[in-house]
Amino acid sequence: MNKDYEMITHEYDVIVVGAGGAGLRATLGMATEGLKTACITKVFPTRSHTVAAQGGMSAALGNMGEDDWRWHMYDTIKGSDWLGDQDAIEYMCREAIPSVIELEHYGVPFSRTEAGKIYQRPFGGMTTHYGEGTAQRTCAAADRTGHSILHTLYQQSLKYKAEFFIEYFAIDLVMDNGECVGVVAIDLASGKLHLFKGHVTLLATGGYGRAYFSATSAHTCTGDGGGMAQRAGVPLQDMEFTQFHPTGIYGAGCLITEGSRGEGGYLTNSDGERFMERYAPNAKDLASRDVVSRSMTIEINEGRGVGKDKDHIELHLEHLGEDVINEKLPGIAESAKIFAGVDVTKAPIPVIPTVHYNMGGIPTNYLGEVIKPKNINDETIVPGLMAIGEASCVSVHGANRLGSNSLLDLIVFGRAAAKQAAKLVKPGAAHKETNKNAIDKIVSRFDKVRFSSGDNLPSHLRLKLQKEMQRSVAVFRTEKTLEEGRKIIHSLYKDFSNINLSDRSMKWNTELLETLELENLLTQSIVSVESAYNRKESRGAHARDDFPDRNDNEWMKHTIAYINDNGIVDIDYRKVVLTTLTDEVEAVPPKKRVY
Ligand code: FUM
Repeated sequence: MNKDYEMITHEYDVIVVGAGGAGLRATLGMATEGLKTACITKVFPTRSHTVAAQGGMSAALGNMGEDDWRWHMYDTIKGSDWLGDQDAIEYMCREAIPSVIELEHYGVPFSRTEAGKIYQRPFGGMTTHYGEGTAQRTCAAADRTGHSILHTLYQQSLKYKAEFFIEYFAIDLVMDNGECVGVVAIDLASGKLHLFKGHVTLLATGGYGRAYFSATSAHTCTGDGGGMAQRAGVPLQDMEFTQFHPTGIYGAGCLITEGSRGEGGYLTNSDGERFMERYAPNAKDLASRDVVSRSMTIEINEGRGVGKDKDHIELHLEHLGEDVINEKLPGIAESAKIFAGVDVTKAPIPVIPTVHYNMGGIPTNYLGEVIKPKNINDETIVPGLMAIGEASCVSVHGANRLGSNSLLDLIVFGRAAAKQAAKLVKPGAAHKETNKNAIDKIVSRFDKVRFSSGDNLPSHLRLKLQKEMQRSVAVFRTEKTLEEGRKIIHSLYKDFSNINLSDRSMKWNTELLETLELENLLTQSIVSVESAYNRKESRGAHARDDFPDRNDNEWMKHTIAYINDNGIVDIDYRKVVLTTLTDEVEAVPPKKRVY
């Protein structure tokens, strides 16, 4: 072990990395299962990015009209453009119902109907009777649902004595002969290194939205779990699928919830036309996000954008009236005022499709266990390692996620992972001796970054990366833009080995932290651009101008991408799970299936 660092060692039954919705739900579940649980988090738990989730969490409660979890399952499979794994989707849609009721009992202050039930709003792609009607399925706490869930879960986790290590940055997983035995982290305040030993290490570190220039994601969304998994030899799955949310505030990138269209908001172009009626005559402004984002981009590209540069679209809420805005959408009214200077009761909000969600991530089964494919039909579990939430690819969202299925995914799979960990781990079981070589490897990478004295500033590299990802791995992609993107992103990765840090201190060294985050962004961007270049079809959020059709014969398979230390990517595939977990007779027979 590097003698310059004192390594403070902790032993827990389970370690959770990340304290967003997924991490906190898992932490709470593990603590209530009697496991000694540590949660390591780079930001204070209630500042995790889930706090920004606005519109709600889907569950077929049927509080506002008829609903059935099978319809929810159908919508999710269709929304995924047939790339979602159907065992996991079935699990998520069934377990949505008890999961949301549990949250209510934990104390989440959901909005209420007149009858006192949980209020539910319509969201894009959510239907009844297998595509026939509109489902009101998204359970909402006004437009601050993530905020409400996060605060409730943190309070509950404290009640059950989970231990939090706040403002600790996870550097790398400790791997011993293919098994994960813990994680090394730096306490940002003291600058001390800590080794957390756990029988299960669960990554709930969120997405890597900040690989892009304009994203609804917080600046902390740097895919730290994905980066650690890559360095531990775990591949990432379906990284070509990045979701653009149709309504990010033009210029600022902040989210304006899809719930605003669920409450009756609509989009117009420079002619004042409600153009979604042309692209999606039935669902209109509530078509799935990939459809709305592409339609907006076409309007702008064909010269019907709004503003002096004709480069954005307008979202109208004026007609909803102050009462609806104040009761259902107070948060976005505030955001529009602050970030666009708009009073939403009087004027439209300027919006543009903005990076919002990574469908790809660390491959897992529906119990949260990380899997490593051996070949397209066979795979193995990585012992000791689990992943959930946006960091993972379970894969319930396939090629495109439906709005409000993300909070759901966090909660359902946080809960599932806690149950599975309780099966895998015996409370208080002894830990193995730590493999010193594994720790040395982690420390020497850390030191390499800390003491680098090359030519490139991390902040410059990050900006170049974000601009290139925005340009080439965009709403529409082509061979040409992706080919250019690959070259540039690979060369930025080379530049990273010649980086220059001016601050070598250990306490609250934000330059060091941002450089470690940058490496995570870079390795995930490389596999994203390579996976997008490789997939020669259009599916869900991956829209190739040069291959405009979905090609199920050749491409109904998950991409699996490995990266080595030199940035070379190796692509493999996993089959899509097309079978369900159970074979229950449908409660309501399908009428007309719409494909
Ligand atoms: O539009 C929204 O409120 C976002 C929800 C989601 O991404 O699930």
